[in-house]
Order: sequence, then structure tokens, then C-alpha cells
Amino acid sequence: MIKVAIVGTGSISNEHIQGYLKNPNVELYAFCDINETQLKKMGEKYGVTRLYTDEATMLAELPEIDAVSVCTWNAAHAPCTIMALNAGKHVLCEKPMATNADEAQAMMDAAKKNGKLLMIGFVRRYGNDCLLLEDFIDKGTFGEIYYAKATYLRRNGCPGGWFGNKALSAGGPLIDLGVHVIDLTRFLLGNPKPVSVYGATFHKLGDRRELADKKGYVASTTSNEDIFDVEDMATALIRYDNGAVVSVEASFSLNLKKDEGKIQLFGTKAGAMLDPELELFTETNGYMSNVQLCTSTALSFDGLFANEINHYVDCIINGTPCKSPAEDGVTLMKILDAIYKSAETGHEVILED
Ligand SMILES: NC(=O)c1ccc[n+]([C@@H]2O[C@H](COP(=O)([O-])OP(=O)(O)OC[C@H]3O[C@@H](n4cnc5c(N)ncnc54)[C@H](O)[C@@H]3O)[C@@H](O)[C@H]2O)c1
Repeated sequence: MIKVAIVGTGSISNEHIQGYLKNPNVELYAFCDINETQLKKMGEKYGVTRLYTDEATMLAELPEIDAVSVCTWNAAHAPCTIMALNAGKHVLCEKPMATNADEAQAMMDAAKKNGKLLMIGFVRRYGNDCLLLEDFIDKGTFGEIYYAKATYLRRNGCPGGWFGNKALSAGGPLIDLGVHVIDLTRFLLGNPKPVSVYGATFHKLGDRRELADKKGYVASTTSNEDIFDVEDMATALIRYDNGAVVSVEASFSLNLKKDEGKIQLFGTKAGAMLDPELELFTETNGYMSNVQLCTSTALSFDGLFANEINHYVDCIINGTPCKSPAEDGVTLMKILDAIYKSAETGHEVILED
């Protein structure tokens, strides 16, 4: 039985908590949030009584904690993670790993120094659709995958709260949504090394808070709602060392017909599109053919985070190799840093080792 604490008890922590509650090897032990009202609300909701508004105090008073989930806003990922690692805890840190690659590197160094696991919450790696695509890739269905498209476009979908405040988020839809699909495509390509990036960001529509029909995911915090100083749309081309290129699009606000979350893979033998069901494009008996499976293939949110949490617990208890390790978080942060730099300079950015 491992004792787990949650640092940052906002919206997404509910998914972590529900995953832990379903795992028989976990005792949900303590909560920490700098927002006392939110902390108390979540303590009552889940019957957790060890409540702290300061992580250092929690770690000092509860040395028996084995592991934490860091679910704070992005700017607090690095300090909260490093503090827990230095106190000898394993850490599952939400995506994006940090606000930049230097912070991410310091987090990974802290994990290595303390001999603890640092797993990154790249939850799309744990989806049913990802497992299915991995299976097709492993069996050689696509041949060589040389191009992919990673799309996460919202017409009017800034989550509010701190998400639009660069000091707390470090960026807009690129670092919040793009990170999911960039990581998923990179994972499916076999985690190649990025060599160059060309990117552009736009600050045209803002968060469109004035539009009445805003819906979708919202942050639990209401602070800093007046600030929106991040990009509202981003696009990029990423080139990897195996020759593959990935095209990325992510937005909080964009004048398109409907939201799009789509992965497309293009290989020498076949292509694939997840939108939301999986469709394969290939040749059969001299004809072009489209293939759909007779089973549900769309990403299911039912059990998605539980898969991630179960894997984290399995890694801690059984030493199972981590499917979303800190190394991949650092690489993703290097890609995101390079896209923002390219957007700023207007030029391609070459990624150094
Ligand atoms: N994996 C996913 O699909 C997914 C989905 C949504 C959000 N996220 C990530 O989860 C994180 C949290 O997002 P959210 O929507 O839950 O935000 P939220 O605003 O609802 O919650 C964040 C909480 O962190 C707390 N906090 C901030 N600094 C802290 C600190 N130093 N110590 C303790 N608590 C602190 C805040 O008070 C707040 O309650 C973000 O990094 C976000 O990118 C991931």
C-alpha cells in the first residue's frame, strides 16, 4: 500500500484522485493547495483530512508519504516537483512538464539525484486509441511513417482562470493542447529526436470571453481572469532525425466550423486518421480502400486517467519501466521552446543536443 498526496487540488486533480481511489494499492493520504477554499472543498468531497496550504509543511509533517501527483498550474510544476523529489517522493507531474526546457531538465536531474521516479502525465499515451495504433504500427501496417498531422483546434475554448495568464501558464493552446498531440505523434513515431522546428503563433482573437456559447473544460480557479496575454492559435512543422515531419495546429480561439481533435499518420503502406474513430487508408487488390474496424476505436475518457494512474503505481511498486518518463517531457519542452522561439524570430530553429 502506498500513501499518495495531491499537490494542486483543482479540476484535473479529480481525475487523478478517482484513479487512486480505484487502485487497491493506494491510500489517498493528503491534499495540498495554496487556495484554502478549494482545498477544504476537495477535502470534504473526498473525505481527506490531512490538508495543507504549503507543500514544504506537508512534506515535513508527513514523511510517510510515498508519492505525489503535481496538478498545479504550469508555473508551479517545477518547484513543486523538485521539492517532492528532494523529500524522497516519487512524482507524477501533469503536462506540460514545466514552463521551459531548463526547468524540465532541473526536474529530471532532481529525480536522478534522488533515485525517484518522475513520470509525466502524457495521458494520451494511455488511451485505447493509442494502444490500437501502437498495435498496427508494431505489426508493420503502415510501413515507414514519414509524415503526420497533429491537430487540436478549439473554436472558442480557452479554459479561463490562469490558462490565459502567461506568468502562470507559460503559453496558450500550444503548451496546453498542442503538447498532447505533439507528444502522441512523437510517441507513435517511436520517440525520434527533434532536429528542427518552424513555428508561428497568433494573438488575433483573444479568449473571446464575450461570446455567450463558451463550453468545454474549465479551470477551477477564478483568479487572474482579466489577463489574457498568451497566443490564441499556433502552428508548427517539426522535423525529426529519422526524416519524419509533423505538422501541428492548436487553438483556443479560431474561426472554424467546429472543434477538431485529430491525428493523421501517413506511411508508405497505409495511412491512418483518428477523428474520432480510427480509419485506415490503403490499397486492396489494386484499388484504393478505406478501412474501418467493427469495434469502437474513438478515444474513450472512461478509464483513461485510471490507466495512467495504475501505470504510475505499477512503476513504483513493481519497478515497471515508465511509459511516459521525464526524458520525453524534457524533449517536448525543447520542442515547445523552439516553436515559441521560431514564432518570435520568424525563422527555423535548429535544436542542439
Ligand atoms: N492531462 C490532461 O488532459 C489535463 C487536462 C487539464 C489540465 N491539465 C493540467 O493540469 C494542471 C492543472 O490544471 P487545472 O485545470 O486542474 O487547473 P486548476 O486551476 O483547476 O487547478 C490548479 C490548482 O493548483 C493550485 N496551485 C497552484 N500553485 C500551487 C502550489 N504551489 N501548491 C499547491 N497548489 C497550487 C491552485 O490553487 C489550483 O487550485 C495544469 O498543468 C494543466 O495543464 C491536464
